[in-house]
Amino acid sequence: MAKQIQAVRGMNDCLPGTTQVWQKVEDILRKTVASYGYQEIRFPIVESTDLFKRSIGEVTDIVEKEMYTFEDRSGDSLTLRPEGTAVCVRAGNQNGLLYNQEQRFWYMGPMFRHERPQKGRYRQFHQFGVETFGIASADIDAEIILLTARLWETFGISQYVRLEINSLGSNEARAQYRDALVAFLESHIEQLDEDSKRRMHSNPLRVLDSKNPDVQAVLEQAPKLSEHLDDESQAHFKNLCERLDAAGVEYQVNDSLVRGLDYYNRTVFEWVTDSLGAQGTVCAGGRYDGLVEQLGGKATPGVGFAMGLERLVLMLQELECVGDIRRNADVYVATMGDEASIQAPVIAEQLRNEVSGLRVMVHAGGGNFKKQLKRADKSDAVVALIFGEEELAQGTVTVKYLREQKEQVTVSFDEVKILLQALTV
Ligand code: HAM
Repeated sequence: MAKQIQAVRGMNDCLPGTTQVWQKVEDILRKTVASYGYQEIRFPIVESTDLFKRSIGEVTDIVEKEMYTFEDRSGDSLTLRPEGTAVCVRAGNQNGLLYNQEQRFWYMGPMFRHERPQKGRYRQFHQFGVETFGIASADIDAEIILLTARLWETFGISQYVRLEINSLGSNEARAQYRDALVAFLESHIEQLDEDSKRRMHSNPLRVLDSKNPDVQAVLEQAPKLSEHLDDESQAHFKNLCERLDAAGVEYQVNDSLVRGLDYYNRTVFEWVTDSLGAQGTVCAGGRYDGLVEQLGGKATPGVGFAMGLERLVLMLQELECVGDIRRNADVYVATMGDEASIQAPVIAEQLRNEVSGLRVMVHAGGGNFKKQLKRADKSDAVVALIFGEEELAQGTVTVKYLREQKEQVTVSFDEVKILLQALTV
């Protein structure tokens, strides 16, 4: 036998059964953002490598070691998108959607990062994201956080996620803080690990993110970002907190939350859970007021977030919060005799026309009646509709209940439509 070809490591198939959960999740996401007036934006999966280098930052995990970068046949360096924010800004700039305008966008789709795969972390994963432009005040930061809180409520997982927020301040304030932090790190250099030593000069704020407990112990004495915030950023953060308080959204201020991408300023936030093991961040985002300009547009503030859909689906499954899933067939049509097998699909078309939303699966592939009923049993359907010569002649159909102990009945066509209507809800 020929050797089977396997999927690329960290890139998963999504199979029937699970796709239904995804569809339900996607449906709730779409409806929720629509209820806030957000519009969908779609953009390519492949972009110029420079886009990500210039936005996410040269000294970040994503750009240093995780991008799927390749040369195309014209010799251009292209990258499979590792995230959506930079792409959204590129699309907004290129299509004149940002300057002097207010925009609320959402997007959904695959992203690619060459990370070490584990539960909740994949090389192809899916994000649902929101990006807003043209609004500098904290009301919009609060709005997108409220939107996420509503999503957890709708999914029934509010009690399993918690919100962490922080402010990174203005670029100038961060530069001042950076100097103070570097001075501190230099004076403790012998206690740092190799990664932190390397980052200390190239991207010192990321040292705060270190997962190494020894480094974290040293950092307890480090200067705090919150002590270096500029007045405007402080006021912005205070206003955000007031708005979250007023809306009853609970949060923890996490001083060492700095995020792994360089474009952020002021507000950053993450929704984290203990239900997923090591990969506990379900949703993350923040403000990026300098990014539009940095990518060649006119200065326009922006704030947004993205959530990992694999993580969300895993959570829903593990916490048994998936809820009802619509069965993929309500009715299985079985036939007896050649004429009935020709007429049944035609009648099925009529049923689909007349009973809106009804899912009708018609037996195909021949076989005797017993085999057909076995298939009906294996399908999701709750009733089998049986057409034989006699039924055809009299304009009736026999209804066999597949999931309950109920006598089968032979009814007229009009009656069967009424009976089937009840199955579509
Ligand atoms: P991020 O923190 O890199 O931010 O990713 C956002 C979310 O995507 C994470 O919290 C996680 O749920 C999910 N995620 C990231 N990497 C993986 C992976 N390898 N496997 C599975 N899920 C993953 C961003 O991407 C920013 N663009 C978010 C943003 C939007 N900020 C402002 N607007």
